[in-house]
Amino acid sequence: MLFKGKKDIVGIDIGSSSVKLVQLRQVKGAFQLVNAGAALLPPEVIVDNAVMDTGTLIQTLRDLVESHKIKTKNVAASISGHSVIIRKVQLPVMTQDEVEASIQWEAEQYIPFDISEVNLDFQILGPDDKDPSVMAVILVAAKKDFVSDYISVFREAGLNPQVLDVDCFALENVFEANYPITEGEVVALINMGASAMNVNILKGGMSAFTRDIQVGGNVFNDEIQKRLGLSGEDAEMAKLGSQLDGVDPELVKDVLDDSAESLAQELQRSLDFFSATSGDQKVQKVYITGGLSRMPQMRKALEQRLGISVELLDPFREVVVNEAQFDPDYIREVAPMLSVATGLAMRRLGDK
Ligand SMILES: Nc1ncnc2c1ncn2[C@@H]1O[C@H](COP(=O)(O)OP(=O)(O)OP(=O)(O)O)[C@@H](O)[C@H]1O
Ligand SMILES: [Mg+2]
Repeated sequence: MLFKGKKDIVGIDIGSSSVKLVQLRQVKGAFQLVNAGAALLPPEVIVDNAVMDTGTLIQTLRDLVESHKIKTKNVAASISGHSVIIRKVQLPVMTQDEVEASIQWEAEQYIPFDISEVNLDFQILGPDDKDPSVMAVILVAAKKDFVSDYISVFREAGLNPQVLDVDCFALENVFEANYPITEGEVVALINMGASAMNVNILKGGMSAFTRDIQVGGNVFNDEIQKRLGLSGEDAEMAKLGSQLDGVDPELVKDVLDDSAESLAQELQRSLDFFSATSGDQKVQKVYITGGLSRMPQMRKALEQRLGISVELLDPFREVVVNEAQFDPDYIREVAPMLSVATGLAMRRLGDK
């Protein structure tokens, strides 16, 4: 986290296709769902992680918060993409204060940006298994201008960003709150959105590898448009399974299969890279989430390619969801899109 506060908070995940909001309450140690919602964004508002239309984004945020009658102004948000660098590094064993004092200097050799132009944060993971004189630390560097632009969007929407996290750590957070951790088990968490996929590989519940891949569900739309000559809107409908007049469903199926296969290949490369750089450790299980995880072809392609079990991550597995307040069918439908926002909403008791 690049900074944090400790008050009542709402988790807001600004994705390129929609803004998602989750609010939780903690009752006797369990999380209860208080609010959940999403608002679609036109495709030209956020392109390549950059906000191209600030006005529309701010208005969308305002409307979403208002329509859910959110009282608190405090927001936990997250960033990802080219302007954010995450590195797992080894440092000599030292205290939190000592790391804080030396982080600027230490980070210089790992971060490909000018250190004076980034916000830095770190998390100590603990001593190395093999060499107790060193410890593993996760370094996060985010470009200052990117962070300040992002924060000002929330401020201009009348909100007060208190926590700024990174997508793949919010994902880790929501996983930890919902699933038991098995010692030594290696699992990959994959958030599959419209324009990107966030990968976080955990070993025994601790992050061992992260990567943002800058392709996602939009690949399907582009391919359908290109190969079937459909408009953007029709392509989205065909992708979501609608039968369109004059469109051969077999052709749609072929395009979906090919695109799913190409994304599965991309993900396999990341998992292979992790294995090759971590003493041949293998991912044993994959949890997928994000809008694209709802596509059956995607899960199947991944399972076939990786040869391991691929499961949908349920962000509300251990969250109390009152059925009188939330339609269970609606929650089941939107849950995959809400994982990052839920992980953010859980940040309010600030664990670091
Ligand atoms: N049932 C479904 N089948 C296939 N794709 C789906 C389905 N439901 C949603 N999607 C796709 O999921 C994507 C939206 O997911 P999500 O909300 O996680 O993305 P995002 O957070 O807006 O994007 P990003 O994080 O990449 O900027 C879109 O590409 C959408 O078409
Ligand atoms: Mg997203």
